[in-house]
Order: sequence, then structure tokens, then C-alpha cells
Amino acid sequence: MRLINTLAILLRVYITYLLSDIARAKNNASRQFLENLLQGVDARIRPPNADNGTVVVKVNLYVLSLSSISAINMEFTTDIYFREFWNDPRLIYADGPPHISLSSRFIDQIWTPDLYFPNEKSAKLHGVTMPNRLLRIFPDGNVVFSIRMTLVFSCPMEFEAFPMDTQTCAIKIESYAYETHELQLAWQDPPVEIDDELELPQFELMEINNVTCHKQYKTTGKFPCLKVTFSLYRRLGSFLLQVYIPSTLIIIVSCISFWINMDAVAARISLGVTTVLTMTTHLTGLTNSVPKVSYPKAIDIWMSMAMLFVFTALLEYAFVNAISRRRSKHDAYKKTDKLDESIEMTAAPGTQTCVDGVQNVPKEPAKRVTNYQKVAHRIDQLSRYIFPSIFLIFNIVYWPYYGAMRER
Ligand SMILES: *[C@@H]1O[C@H](CO)[C@@H](O)[C@H](O)[C@H]1NC(C)=O
Ligand SMILES: *[C@@H]1O[C@H](CO)[C@@H](O)[C@H](O)[C@H]1NC(C)=O
Ligand SMILES: *[C@@H]1O[C@H](CO)[C@@H](O)[C@H](O)[C@H]1NC(C)=O
Repeated sequence: MRLINTLAILLRVYITYLLSDIARAKNNASRQFLENLLQGVDARIRPPNADNGTVVVKVNLYVLSLSSISAINMEFTTDIYFREFWNDPRLIYADGPPHISLSSRFIDQIWTPDLYFPNEKSAKLHGVTMPNRLLRIFPDGNVVFSIRMTLVFSCPMEFEAFPMDTQTCAIKIESYAYETHELQLAWQDPPVEIDDELELPQFELMEINNVTCHKQYKTTGKFPCLKVTFSLYRRLGSFLLQVYIPSTLIIIVSCISFWINMDAVAARISLGVTTVLTMTTHLTGLTNSVPKVSYPKAIDIWMSMAMLFVFTALLEYAFVNAISRRRSKHDAYKKTDKLDESIEMTAAPGTQTCVDGVQNVPKEPAKRVTNYQKVAHRIDQLSRYIFPSIFLIFNIVYWPYYGAMRER
């Protein structure tokens, strides 16, 4: 019985030893394999390709996010998987797995293209939990290299049609050291992939264009380059709610003034001044969310027009009031007449002739009184139609004009 137990223990120990030996041998084999594979590769030298020694590097971008499209800083931030595909004949292997995935620790041991982004402002590589890099080698020497990064790109923007503008932002890729006869850049198919969860709060991604180009520098030579452009269509929603609708309402309120009786000075002045002040506040509140450029933007034209409207509505009342003040001069006349009449009633008959002379005067101005009153009232009445009509015409011109600008 004891013997059997001892034998069993011995057997277990032997099996464990055998298994660990197999594991060690496997480890040895894959190390051997990698060492053999990487032995012939000098990471400093670019792959010796047959076609004139030109390495063709294909590129693909997988866009995870496109955010912080800043009109103020003229930049945008993007989180991408940047993938490069090329062939290195030194990495061809015969008996082995369908492909080898190398840990990021090995990447420094093989040659990788020296691509960079000329229009990048800042970049961040991700290193949690390990550097976010992937390297895969295929039996025919094809290499796939992928790296995750967050980049801030500069994007020159034009704001003539702001906020109905379409911005075109680009990602440029260039080789830093290799000229076009040493390295060629091309787009992998598909060139750009967009993540399903990509969400742009302020924009709509309309179009993606891939371009292959060459960049000629006077002193250093001709370099291969790639460019992908994103056409971003600004969503009008928040501007409609925050700018266009409130200012339209203020204009409507300022037009209400024309329906209020001319004599209600306090009501009309306070309405006019309130609308002008509200518009001013609205205008100041806007300056922080709008890019500062020297030329007028669509939103500036709208706001200036709205300001002009409420201001003119206030001026219109000042004008009407001025006319009615002329009336009040004759009103004073009228009052003195009435006074004279009452004087006349109590006066002695001897003064009759003198009073008579005064009494005949008001007949002419009395006619004019009604005329001025009518003119002022007429101006108010006309304004009721003219102001909304001008605003309507302005809208009819404004929206299609900037709408057409947006389509371009
Ligand atoms: C591992 O490989 C070396 C040669 O590189 C060899 O000497 C050694 O015996 C191998 N070990 C195993 C466990 O196969
Ligand atoms: C090699 O380069 C020459 C000129 O630089 C060009 O005419 C020729 O087509 C190239 N050959 C290949 C296979 O790319
Ligand atoms: C864009 O990418 C596609 C797919 O790879 C390619 O067929 C096309 O030639 C590229 N366009 C340009 C202008 O490089």
C-alpha cells in the first residue's frame, strides 16, 4: 500500500516535470523563432524592397471621436487608431503561425515608418495598461502597425456664414525623413473608418475626402503626404433657440409700440428703451460664444439688423412725438383762446373789440392741429405695416443667401 502511494507521488512529480519541460521547450521555441526572425532585421534601415527600393506604406484611420471643434482656437481634437501597413522582406518566415502578434516591447526592434502630422498642435499617446500599440507580422513579410493617440489639429476656419458655416478640417500625414523615391504613402481601403458611437454635438459630419499628395520643400526635397478632410456642417439648433428666436421676439415687441396710443409717452418710451437695452444685453452675451474676426459674420449682420430695428422703432416714436409737440403749441393757443372766451364772458362790453380781434385768430391753426395729429397718427399707422414688411424682406434675403453659402 505504501509502495503504491510512493509510486503515485513519484508519477505525479514526473508528469509535472514533463509538463513544465514541454512549456519551457515551447517558450524556448518561440523565443528561438522570434530571435531568428528578428536577427536579420536592423531597425535603423528601411526594408530593401525590390521596386526601386521604395517602401509603400498604406495608411488607415479609425476615428473614435471628433470633439472640441473650437471656433475660438481654430482647432479640433480627435482620438484615433492610426494604422500603417507595409512589407518588410526581412520578416518573411516559413513554418510558423498564420501571423505573429508582437508585444509593444518588440516594436523598437523592427523598422517602422517615421510618419508625422504637420498640422498637429499637440498629441498624446496612451500607455494604460501597456502602450496602446499593435504589431502584427504575416508570413509574407507584411506588417500591420497600429497605435492609439489623441491629437489636437489646427483647422483654419472661415466665419463669413457663421453660424450657418461648413468647416473643412484636415488631418495631414507626411514622412519626416524619407523622400518620395524612398517611401510612398497611399491610402488603405477603406481610408477612414468612423466609430459608430461617434457623436458630434454641434456639427454634422457631411463628407470625408482622402487625398494623396506630395509636399515640395525648397531646401529638403519632395516628401510623400496624405490628407483627409472632414466637412463639418454646423447645426443651427442652439443658435436658433438662443439668438434668432429671442431677437425676433424682441423685434415683434418693439413693433407693438406702433399700436399704442401716441399720447402714452411713458408706455411707448419705456417699451422702446427696454427693447433696445434687451438687445444690447443679448449682443454682449453673445460675444463670448462667437469667434472674434475682423469681418462681419452672418450672426453679426442679423444682430445689427435687429438692433437697427428696435432703435428705429424708438426713433419713430421720437419723431411722432416731435410732431405732436408742434400740436401742443397750438393747443396752448387754443387754451388761451378758451381763457379769453371766459374772460370775454366776464369782461365789460367796452373791451369787446379787443377780444374780438384775438378770437378770430385760432380758426387757421385749429385746422393745422388736426393735420399734425393726423400726420403723426398716419406715420404710426404706416409703421405698423412698413416695419414688419422690411423685417420679412430682410428674412427672405438673409436665409436663402446664407443657405446658399452653406451649400458651397
Ligand atoms: C533552449 O535552447 C537552447 C539553445 O538556444 C538549448 O541549448 C536548450 O537546451 C534549450 N532548452 C530546452 C528546454 O529546450
Ligand atoms: C524606378 O524608378 C524610375 C525612375 O526613378 C522609374 O522610371 C521606374 O518606373 C521605377 N520602377 C519601378 C518598378 O517603380
Ligand atoms: C481614397 O481612398 C480610396 C480607397 O483606398 C482610393 O481608391 C482612392 O484612390 C483614394 N483617393 C485619393 C484621392 O487618393
